[in-house]
Amino acid sequence: MKKILHIVATPRAAGSRTLQVSAAFLAEFTKRHPGWDVEELDLSKEKLPGLTVKRVDGKYALLGGKELSGEFKAAWEEIIQHINKFLSADAYLISTPMWNFSIPYMLKQYLDVIVQPKYLFQYTKTGAVEGLVINRKMVVITSRGGDYSSPEARKLDHQEPYLRTIFGFVGIKDIQFIIAQPMDMGEQLQKEKILEALVKAKELAKQF
Ligand SMILES: Cc1cc2nc3c(=O)[nH]c(=O)nc-3n(C[C@H](O)[C@H](O)[C@H](O)COP(=O)(O)O)c2cc1C
Repeated sequence: MKKILHIVATPRAAGSRTLQVSAAFLAEFTKRHPGWDVEELDLSKEKLPGLTVKRVDGKYALLGGKELSGEFKAAWEEIIQHINKFLSADAYLISTPMWNFSIPYMLKQYLDVIVQPKYLFQYTKTGAVEGLVINRKMVVITSRGGDYSSPEARKLDHQEPYLRTIFGFVGIKDIQFIIAQPMDMGEQLQKEKILEALVKAKELAKQF
């Protein structure tokens, strides 16, 4: 059975605008893809491993072409579990609001945990980076308090460019964004923009 991994990076649960749009995407997606399993990883509830010195040293060992052994291997158990869960998916849905012009810290920590040499990327003999997460699609659903769609405001958006960069680095190039904005500049505008995003989410789920 194929699997879409839904990575949630907002603690607002039922109050979340982002998750409202994601729910519309998933409702249509599951209707159209009955053979797919949806697994949720709620980063706001997950106790992610911290990057202690042993865990970071393990990363440098891998970067130096060594295998993990002994205390490094033990320290990396939880990291490997997260990597395995990430790599077990055939597609990804990321639900993340914009926080301070970028992504919430829980999503950044998750990326610091899973983006590891040998597992998600490697360097070739010529020194080029090779992403190892191939043939996977991704949808990112996000909402923002403000509106970053004008060329001037886009310069402040460190969320979409960052997510495209980091997931592109590990090999995921097919990334589609659904952006609900502005969410915090008046109730009327918020309702309108959420409705627009719901329609887009449904459309995308049909073609996905
Ligand atoms: C800690 C925090 C930081 C935020 N930073 C920004 C920001 O930089 N730019 C912005 O437009 N909105 C910002 N917002 C507003 C949220 O992006 C907006 O309310 C969004 O719709 C929340 O999504 P959610 O309901 O799915 O949690 C911030 C909200 C919080 C809680």
